[in-house]
Amino acid sequence: MPPGIQRVLISAEDLTARVTQLGRQIQEDYVGRTPMLVGVLKGAVVFLADLMRAIDAPCECDLIAVSSYGPSTRSSGIVELTKDLSVPIEGRDVLIVEDIVDTGRTLAYLRRNLETRQPRTLRVCTLLDKTSRREVPVSLDYVGFTIPDEFVVGYGLDFAGLYRNLPYLAVLDSRESQPA
Ligand code: IMP
Ligand code: MG
Repeated sequence: MPPGIQRVLISAEDLTARVTQLGRQIQEDYVGRTPMLVGVLKGAVVFLADLMRAIDAPCECDLIAVSSYGPSTRSSGIVELTKDLSVPIEGRDVLIVEDIVDTGRTLAYLRRNLETRQPRTLRVCTLLDKTSRREVPVSLDYVGFTIPDEFVVGYGLDFAGLYRNLPYLAVLDSRESQPA
């Protein structure tokens, strides 16, 4: 186990199995359409890359970045767009691909923002859902795993920029995640 990691929460094999199921489900739900998968940088890139390859049908992807201010393991609710989409999404079937929904503030902001561009449909696929920390109600169409209130890293998720490259999802040692 790398330094700073307390234990594995979801193994690489379990991630693969669940992401494959999600991809199949999305494939069936969007038959005859070409969904635009919008990955939220940076955390969702690993999930997006695997999810896309689990969809055996035409789909496109784009990336968007938001930042929220506050201590490193919490989201303050002040969300700002730091990188926009590269194409218009009017009339498209847009699927937001997120790594984790925690308070729900980031997603609520993104939904509001993307909705104004008049996509034909707007749905959300999140790998992880920390339901117990929700402050803003958000509807989630596809959820990989519901997880307890613990700070997790790996499979794209970071702490202070690190651990995104771990192939599994792990719980960070709580001594690491204390705000400085
Ligand atoms: P929300 O706006 O509170 O829902 O926060 C969502 C964002 O907070 C995610 O996109 C992550 O960047 C970050 N986040 C929340 N919980 C975790 C976690 O356990 N590990 C890593 N990042 C997290
Ligand atoms: Mg994120």
